[in-house]
Order: sequence, then C-alpha cells, then structure tokens
Amino acid sequence: MVIKKKRRLSKKGRLVISFVCALIVLGGAFFGFQKWEEHQFLTLGYSKEAYREIKSENLKDYVKNVGENKTLNICLESADFKKENVDSYVKINYQDQSRFVTHVNSLLDLGYTVDDINLILARGSDDDVEAFLAHEKVDDVSTYLTFDFAKLNYWDRYEAYQREELTTDEKTVVYVNIGLDKEFYTDYQVIHDYSVIVLANKYNQLSREYVPDDLVSIPEEYCLNEDQKMVEEARDAFVEMAKKAEEDGLTLRIRSSYRTYEQQEAIYNDYLENYGQARADSIAARPGFSEHQTGLVIDIATSQTSVFSSTEEYQWMKNNAHLYGFIQRYPEGKSDVTGYNNEAWHYRYLGVDLATKVHDSGLTYDEYYVMYLDQQ
Ligand code: DAL
Ligand code: ZN
Repeated sequence: MVIKKKRRLSKKGRLVISFVCALIVLGGAFFGFQKWEEHQFLTLGYSKEAYREIKSENLKDYVKNVGENKTLNICLESADFKKENVDSYVKINYQDQSRFVTHVNSLLDLGYTVDDINLILARGSDDDVEAFLAHEKVDDVSTYLTFDFAKLNYWDRYEAYQREELTTDEKTVVYVNIGLDKEFYTDYQVIHDYSVIVLANKYNQLSREYVPDDLVSIPEEYCLNEDQKMVEEARDAFVEMAKKAEEDGLTLRIRSSYRTYEQQEAIYNDYLENYGQARADSIAARPGFSEHQTGLVIDIATSQTSVFSSTEEYQWMKNNAHLYGFIQRYPEGKSDVTGYNNEAWHYRYLGVDLATKVHDSGLTYDEYYVMYLDQQ
C-alpha cells in the first residue's frame, strides 16, 4: 500500500497566500465602504455625477452637513460648478430652468445676495433672467419683486411707470401687469383660455369667431328684450338670484346678455357716430373686447326705471350678487383701471367662490386677476 505523503507549502508560499487573502478582504471592505458611502449621498438626493464632484472637491463632510439640497445637487452636476459659491448655492431655491446654474453664478458675480437671487429667479423664465442680467446691477430688487405676481420681464416698465406716476410699488406692479402703462387698445393679448375666469378687457381680446358652446335661452319673464342668451351655468345662477330678489320684493330683469362680435360692433359704432371716440370708448367695448361676447355677463334693469343705480335693486345687488356668483364689473371710481364709466347694471359671472373673493377684496376684476389668477 502506497501512502501519499501530504505536500506541505513552504513558509514563503503560505505568506504569499495570506497576503493575497488579506488584500482581497481589504479590497472588498474598501469597495464595500465606497459603495455604502455613495449610497448615503444617493439617498440624500445627490446624483452619481454630483457624488463624483463631492469626492473630487473634498466636500463630503460639507454636503453631509447640508443634507438634501436640490440646488446644490444640480450645481455639483454642472460644468459651471464653482466651489467658492457653495455656501450661496445651498441657500438658493431650486428652479426648473435650463440655465439655472449659469445664471446663479452670474448673479452672484454681479453682487446680488441670495435673497435677491431667490426673488429674481422666481419671477421669470430663463430668458427673462438672461435679459435681466444685461442690466446694470439693480440696488433693491425687492422693490417690485417682493410681490409674487411681479414679472421680471416687466422690470423696466415698472421703473418707467413709477417715475411717471409716483405711486406705490404694489400699485405700480398691479397696474403695469394689467397693461395700464400703455394706452388702451394699443398693446393687447389674444385670449385662448375661455374658462369661467376669462379676463376680457382693453388689453385682452376675444377671437372674432368665439361663441360659447353652452349658450342657453334666458326665460322670457326675466328679460326686457327678446331672445336673450347666456352660458348655462351663469343663466341658472341668474334665475336663482332673480327668484331670491323677488322673495325680497324686488325685480331683476335683463336688458342685455350674450352679444355676438357683430352685435357689439353695431353698438360700438352707433356710440361712435353719436358721441365720438372718447365717449364711445368710455361706455362700450370695441368689438372683440366686450365681456358680453363671453356669455357670462348681464346688464340688469328693473322694469320701472332706466336709472339702475338709484334703485333698491342696485343696493340689493351690491350686497347679494356675489352670493350667486356675480360681481359688478365696472364700479364707481375705477374707470382709470377698467377703462369704462361706472356701470351699476353690468354684472359678470365668476362662480360663487371667486365672485365672493373678488367682492371681499374690494378690487376690480382686472386687478384681482393679475394679482391672484394670472399664471403666466
Ligand atoms: N358696456 C360694456 C363695457 C361693454 O360694451 O362690454
Ligand atoms: Zn354690459
């Protein structure tokens, strides 16, 4: 029987093997640690590219201290990352703008504070910020930009308007946003969204072809003229309101409601011939600019008198119209904003919630719209 003799490794061999094993264990541990650390940063919302920058710029502890920060992440990812700006980056609110990091750096270079930058970036698009950067540094951006409805691209118009009118900062922003720094009808937008909040005025034009698709007839007993129509929701609200007024012993009747572009044209031209342009413009909208074409408007009368403002019905409407979704659209003392003389009879349907807010604000709809509804 042959007994195999176990071959034993030499001492040197054993050492080499132990060394290789140790290397594998250490390497594995190191690799594991790296992965674990990367995972920590990924969990905090940093990308792999950002993590690479964190490592190469020696910012691990700094970023761990900051924790999750979308702006810092995007700055770290960017080729424009500047280490000296890192304390500012972390205080700047992230905006989804393609030249965000470049703009942040440029604004910092110009000497704007992080508070300034937060206002500037929040009030405009990439292009607006780009244009603003071409300005000399503005001393106090918060003058206008503190209002969340301010628009960065209107900065020069705000300044020009205030130089001219010497009014408050807020009024400047509101009026310029409406368009009031320009003559009526000289610079207007074409309306595309015809929802119930639509703003039609001397700066916002309805398309000539626009006809609401849910026009319905108003029952004859509520009308002083034949064949009156309105948008269904507004018609139902009016009928409910008229019934309630009747319970209170009052009569609400409609003199005019939906008007086509052509009907408005005839009305306006009639005033133009009889009174001249200035007066015509103060009492009637030019065709395409009348709220009546939205089907959301009623001119109210009583059957007794033609001077609606002197009636009990007018007092009742002042207190109650908003509860049914209507507001007086052209109030007294506001013709510099609306462009029309006081019209005690002209009511606009907005729905109960919005009408109540506008009523309670004491603002015209033009002002309310640019302050709270304009999404541009
Ligand atoms: N009277 C109002 C302003 C209109 O013509 O629409
Ligand atoms: Zn009217």
